[in-house]
Amino acid sequence: MERMIARFDEKAEIIEHCQAAEDIFVLKVAAPAVSASARPGQFCMVEVKAVGSSDPLLRRPFSIHAREDGGRLSFLYRRVGRGTDLLSRMRPGEMLNVLGPLGRGFRVRPDITPILAGGGMGMAPLLFLAEYCAGSMDTFTILGGRTASELTGLESFRRTGTRVLVATEDGSLGTRGMVTDVLDGLLKTLSESAGQCEIHTCGPWPMMRAVYEMASQSGIPCWVSLESRMACGTGLCLGCAVYGTEKILHVCREGPVFHGDSIRWRDGQ
Ligand SMILES: Cc1cc2nc3c(=O)[nH]c(=O)nc-3n(C[C@H](O)[C@H](O)[C@H](O)COP(=O)(O)OP(=O)(O)OC[C@H]3O[C@@H](n4cnc5c(N)ncnc54)[C@H](O)[C@@H]3O)c2cc1C
Ligand code: FES
Repeated sequence: MERMIARFDEKAEIIEHCQAAEDIFVLKVAAPAVSASARPGQFCMVEVKAVGSSDPLLRRPFSIHAREDGGRLSFLYRRVGRGTDLLSRMRPGEMLNVLGPLGRGFRVRPDITPILAGGGMGMAPLLFLAEYCAGSMDTFTILGGRTASELTGLESFRRTGTRVLVATEDGSLGTRGMVTDVLDGLLKTLSESAGQCEIHTCGPWPMMRAVYEMASQSGIPCWVSLESRMACGTGLCLGCAVYGTEKILHVCREGPVFHGDSIRWRDGQ
């Protein structure tokens, strides 16, 4: 039987929009209906048009970064092209359409310790997940980036109570190296109790693949949040296909969060 899908297309007011680092922005909007139904790991299709323009036609997908009181949602995004450049120019008080919450998010088990592992903008969906887990269970969060200034919002993670471990490629903060270097150390420290953990990861494909392989070797379940180019975000255009181990998977409808075992990693991005 198909799941009941609570999904809304809301005209949302921009409440705050600030630049957190070079080309990295935090957008906060009032979208009470989307916010009330949102679960960690879900995403929204966000309109990026300039006011009065119909171009570009397609909305852009962004993970829900955090949910706040008063029906507010925030998105953490990197300016990489035309759509995100247009979005970065929008100001508080302007309105944009937000379709969501979309997709299937992270599956969290109350009896298992979550290890969150995010690389670069892959940290975006993990704050909501850390908030969701706060209070009820111990969590570890590993965040990695090229350099310290990319790792914005570490304090927001710490405030949830999760234990934050950091890796930077240039060694400017935390361990010099990759998310997987820190994960390797953490799994060794946890030793026997690593078997009571589950990994939730988001980031560049090679990083998620390495995290998944490390988890598999340790016998730990690993959930991965994938990205693909999306036109509709709702299962209609079939444009977001990725190879699964048994069938083609559509990231917007069956994901974006998948069990790592279901992905054909060698055929990825
Ligand atoms: C489910 C989902 C959640 C996402 N969440 C976030 C998020 O929280 N924060 C964030 O910064 N980005 C996120 N993205 C990626 C974001 O949607 C793209 O960066 C954005 O659509 C680019 O739009 P643009 O018009 O600026 O870039 P374009 O001009 O369309 O492209 C610029 C460059 O970005 C690459 N690109 C565009 N879209 C994607 C994509 N989906 N995946 C990988 N590379 C892409 C292109 O290949 C090109 O090199 C998410 C994508 C998906 C599918
Ligand atoms: S984006 Fe259209 S089917 Fe997934």
